[in-house]
Amino acid sequence: MAEEFIYSKLVRPLLFRLDPELAHRLTLGLLALARPQEARPDPPELGVTLWNRRFANPIGLAAGMDKDARAAWAWQALGFGFAELGTVTPRPQPGNPRPRLWRLPEHQALVNRLGFPSAGMERVGRRIRLLRRAGIGLRLGINIGPNLERTGEESLAEDLLELIAALGPLADFVVINLSSPNTPGLRAWQAPKRMRALAEKIAAPGKPGGDGPPLAVKISPDLDPESLREVVRAARELKLDGLVVANTSAQRETLGVSFPAPGGLSGAPLRRLTPSLVAQVFRLSEGALPIIGVGGVASGQDAYDYIRAGARLVELYTALVYQGPTLVRRIKAELAALLRRDGFASVADAVGGGAS
Ligand SMILES: Cc1cc2nc3c(=O)[nH]c(=O)nc-3n(C[C@H](O)[C@H](O)[C@H](O)COP(=O)(O)O)c2cc1C
Repeated sequence: MAEEFIYSKLVRPLLFRLDPELAHRLTLGLLALARPQEARPDPPELGVTLWNRRFANPIGLAAGMDKDARAAWAWQALGFGFAELGTVTPRPQPGNPRPRLWRLPEHQALVNRLGFPSAGMERVGRRIRLLRRAGIGLRLGINIGPNLERTGEESLAEDLLELIAALGPLADFVVINLSSPNTPGLRAWQAPKRMRALAEKIAAPGKPGGDGPPLAVKISPDLDPESLREVVRAARELKLDGLVVANTSAQRETLGVSFPAPGGLSGAPLRRLTPSLVAQVFRLSEGALPIIGVGGVASGQDAYDYIRAGARLVELYTALVYQGPTLVRRIKAELAALLRRDGFASVADAVGGGAS
């Protein structure tokens, strides 16, 4: 395909000559110029209904690519069924000092330790309100997290409450990010006891099953099996609306990668880790907890594997950097063909259907 050729032979080599963060800013700046246009209709068998909302297809943009909600029209034009914007913090903050983003092309991977650079909830909220007013069809999840040094019990709960109050009404679903490896102290909140304490504090406006938006928690792929079991139990007791499985990994050698700097590893190496976590969460929750699968998705087969393992929706980030703007359309065509091959009338019929 011409576009694919142009991206791999021309655009990517140019972008990859630039510092990774500069390339990201440049790309996002260009994508932000995209104007509203009709999304191409997806075949009905790719539609998914979750949380009383219809997603035109199950492929979403993962959090971190568009932290400040700058390019939603472009995500719609590229064919995504939804985009998870953020992580958004209450107040604007710059994130960690640079360098803080690296490419590992031999692994089709990235390492980042951005540390939640964010324009803050007011600006992001204003942008999303404009998108809503203009009638964007794309489903919008909003991923939220605390400002730096706000991971103590009181301050974390305060930050999350503020974020849910400000952004919840604008979101199709909200994801609480408890799994970034780049905000000191954050991942400790995945411990069920602490997760419970937190849930009690934020129960009022964002209450799972209450008036607020559907509320999911994004977990780390580095949880050991016992912790994972406990997290799933806690998520069910707390009546969370879902889990996003999973964030970037702090592992290296176990995933066949040697890279010295600390930070979160994303991309192809996560395929060794995350699909089996999705399968475990699906089994442990007896299919009752909606799962968004994310980590290393780069093809229709990968998306299908996540769905068969138990994911209702699938997201990607790193593969878009390596494969460019035609990726989502290709994944959807491949996924539709795989569903047809195996006799599934819809994505929902394939969820949790075992290995393909
Ligand atoms: C540069 C970069 C920044 C990210 N920032 C965030 C973030 O702000 N919040 C979040 O929940 N996940 C963030 N992620 C994690 C992704 O959402 C996703 O969980 C992870 O990259 C695995 O998916 P992938 O292999 O398709 O990239 C980030 C990932 C990358 C590569």
